This record gives sequence, C-alpha cells and structure tokens, in this order.
Amino acid sequence: MTKREDGFYFKAKKEGYKSRAAYKLLEIDRKFEILSRAHYILELGSSPGGWTDVLLERNPEFLLCVDLSAKKSDQFPFAIRGDVTKESSWKDIEDFLGGREMDLILSDAMTHTSGQHFRDHAASVDICTSILSHGMRVLRVGGNMMVKQFQGEYTREFIDQFKVYFKRNYTTKPQASRAESSEIYIIFAGLIDHI
Ligand SMILES: C[S@@+](CC[C@H](N)C(=O)[O-])C[C@H]1O[C@@H](n2cnc3c(N)ncnc32)[C@H](O)[C@@H]1O
Repeated sequence: MTKREDGFYFKAKKEGYKSRAAYKLLEIDRKFEILSRAHYILELGSSPGGWTDVLLERNPEFLLCVDLSAKKSDQFPFAIRGDVTKESSWKDIEDFLGGREMDLILSDAMTHTSGQHFRDHAASVDICTSILSHGMRVLRVGGNMMVKQFQGEYTREFIDQFKVYFKRNYTTKPQASRAESSEIYIIFAGLIDHI
C-alpha cells in the first residue's frame, strides 16, 4: 500500500467516489451543514471529482466546477477550465454564471506541494485571497464560502481580512485529512453584503 492508498482511498473506490477527498467534505458537512440549502454552487479546484460526486448526491439546481485540468462541459454539472488566481478565469466564471448568484462557493484548490512549508502556505494564501476577493462578487447575501489553506503565519491575517464581510467564520481539519498535512478548511458563513 502506497502513502496515497490509505483507508479512505480504498473506501472511496468501494463507494464510487472519484477521490478520497469526498470524505473531507462529507465530514465537514456533518459538522457545519454547509451543503444544506445550497442549491447554486460554484466548486473550485474540483478535479478529479470526489467533492462533485458528493454535491451531485444532494441534487443541486446549478453546479459549476472549475479546475486547471477540468474538461469543459456545457451540460449539467457544468465545468470550465480555469485558474482561480487569474482575472481572465474569473471573467469566464462570471460570464458562465450570467448573473446567477451562488449559495455556496467551495474551494479545494491547491497546486502541487513543494514540501517547503512556507512556500506552500504562501501559495495557498494567494489562492484563497483571490477566491475570496472575486468569489464574494458572485455569492448571494447570506451565502457561504469554504476554502482550503495550508495553515501558517499568514492564516490569521487572511481570516481577519475577510471575516468582516461575513456573520461567522470557522476553521476545521477533518479526520479524513492526512495527519501530516497542514491543510485546514476555513468557512466564512453568511455574507453580510456585497462590497
Ligand atoms: C486536492 S485536488 C482537489 C480534489 C477535489 N476536491 C476532489 O474531491 O476530487 C486540488 C485541485 O486543485 C486544482 N488547482 C490547483 N490550483 C488551481 C488554480 N489556481 N485554479 C484552479 N484549480 C486549481 C488542481 O488542478 C487539483 O485538481
């Protein structure tokens, strides 16, 4: 068994999820109920699709998946290839949404880790900052966002920067997340207003 092939890997294979990441989302949802009342969803860093499988089980009315490696789909669940750190990709996302406002924006996006803690942390803060800044424009008032981040010295500053736009915020590390990983999920709940 390789490092990647742990219990969650085999469970995902058996239960038909495209990746073990599905269990992180299921666990977070059991604790914070972020998927309930989420009918319009934007999923970022969506490939290979474990979270998408979980979202589809809830029968959302609208789901747009975005990933560097996504295969474009004009059929539900919709998908576009894009880089969430790029202005041009957010233009594509906004064009695709066509004025629809999302109930929930989820991000599991993270580029390949270098193994150097500070570099990976800083890269994940950049991704999260781009997602919050752009995502709030297409989130409905009252809507929720959740982003993955490699925890580090800028995490507090990042949360402080964006928490003022939301009613509540939470930080969580699901059991399905590898113990040796510094990844955490930050939830911003209840957008107060558009900026
Ligand atoms: C951990 S995987 C996501 C797993 C997914 N949640 C699942 O359940 O299968 C991270 C994904 O983020 C994507 N990604 C990394 N940086 C990105 C970026 N800047 N923009 C869009 N996607 C990105 C990668 O291509 C990769 O598919």
